[in-house]
Amino acid sequence: MKQPKSMFVCSECGAQSSKWLGRCPSCGTWNTYNEMIPARETAKTGLSAGSGIRAVPLSTVSLPEYLRAATGISELDRVLGGGLVTGSVVLLSGEPGIGKSTLLMQLSGAVADNSVRRILYVSGEESQSQLKMRSERLKINGDGIFMLTDGDINNILKAAEELQPSIIIADSVQTLTDPELTSTAGSVTQVRQTAARLIEKAKKDSVSVILVGHINKEGSIAGPKILEHMVDAVLSFEGERRYTHRIIRATKNRFGSTNEIGVFEMTENGLCEIPNPSEMLLRDRPVGTSGSCAVCVMEGSRPIIAEIQALATPTTFPSPRRTVNGADYNRLYLLLAVLEKRLGLRFSTQDIYLNVVGGLRIDEPAADLASAMALISGLLDKPLPDDLIAVGEIGLAGECRAVSNTEQRVKEAVRLGFKKIVIPSRSAEKLRTAGNIEFIPLKSIYEALVLFKNQN
Ligand code: TYD
Ligand code: MG
Repeated sequence: MKQPKSMFVCSECGAQSSKWLGRCPSCGTWNTYNEMIPARETAKTGLSAGSGIRAVPLSTVSLPEYLRAATGISELDRVLGGGLVTGSVVLLSGEPGIGKSTLLMQLSGAVADNSVRRILYVSGEESQSQLKMRSERLKINGDGIFMLTDGDINNILKAAEELQPSIIIADSVQTLTDPELTSTAGSVTQVRQTAARLIEKAKKDSVSVILVGHINKEGSIAGPKILEHMVDAVLSFEGERRYTHRIIRATKNRFGSTNEIGVFEMTENGLCEIPNPSEMLLRDRPVGTSGSCAVCVMEGSRPIIAEIQALATPTTFPSPRRTVNGADYNRLYLLLAVLEKRLGLRFSTQDIYLNVVGGLRIDEPAADLASAMALISGLLDKPLPDDLIAVGEIGLAGECRAVSNTEQRVKEAVRLGFKKIVIPSRSAEKLRTAGNIEFIPLKSIYEALVLFKNQN
């Protein structure tokens, strides 16, 4: 039989080529092509008539019964869609030092017991004593947690065979190797092969597997993108080093929604769950300053109140600077254009800085109104009332458009003690309960100017 031809695969995006390339034509990165020798392919027969494969009516297919096990960390369970599904494979990605190993150690501590639920914790990055030190710090006694500091996939599978764990944690997938392959750990072929063998194990023996994947500085999971297609769920662990809070969100989930987020705070005793993130995000809010407006965004089923800050300073550059943190850059340009054209405000002579406080990322159009009000307040140097919150989308004509889940957002605002809410008039009409909050309905952003004019 003919030797299979080797392929070259980009380690960034997984693009393939029959020749080695210096620059990937698909993602544009340099020097990322690695050789990969594919396994011998069996002859493809195609779907020949009478092969026994038949289409089944969808109505007769029965629903699968997933066995979900709550991990005991409710912020994580929420993101997973209610718990870890038995036999599922989850990829947990995040920058180095964000707290992936800490979270997984806490998960191990919460799940493991000596009799039924054992954990096999494979670490290719830390020694056993380092792991012990971390568990001491996290006050985990370690019953039912078994450590393996070896990246050889054969040894891992052998240990799993002996232990029969309910969860296998591989920290990280970039340190695993299959000795059958000659390439080094972390290469596309190794990552693909070792992950495939763990996935096979998960499906065969109904054991849950959690793979840790580092992300590179561009923010994508190092190694082939293909890993994301192979696993059942991809969770990304985000947060800024400067802040202590961390957000976990699902970017893919075969067993639940991808909208939910889990919020944690990194303390000296590990990650603490934050069931009410709004309080934390508003904790250090300054009072009576211009350029600040509160907003309520929906993260999955949860309303979260955050603060948007804007600063406008006269520019000294030929083209003014626009710096955005935590919001969409293009959206800022759009809002500035609307404010400039419809309200005649001169932003073009100003450098603009827009910041979502606390490291939260907002990409909901419902934050438009709050961003616009913060920008106007920053430009005019007139503060908004501290107990005012704004929710709404802004169209190109300057009109305020209704947003979803208004009722929930209003409730959260009331809960946190806000007294005035600026909302699109269409949303205000639909609201049934008012609670202890004053509505300021707007048809267009023009009407928002009145809020500033009334002040001295
Ligand atoms: P770690 O879980 O090792 O990160 P990752 O596995 O994602 O690389 O966490 C590293 C950071 O967390 C480290 O800078 C120290 C900090 N940390 C705490 O602040 N408190 C703790 O209890 C622990 C265990 C870690
Ligand atoms: Mg780690």
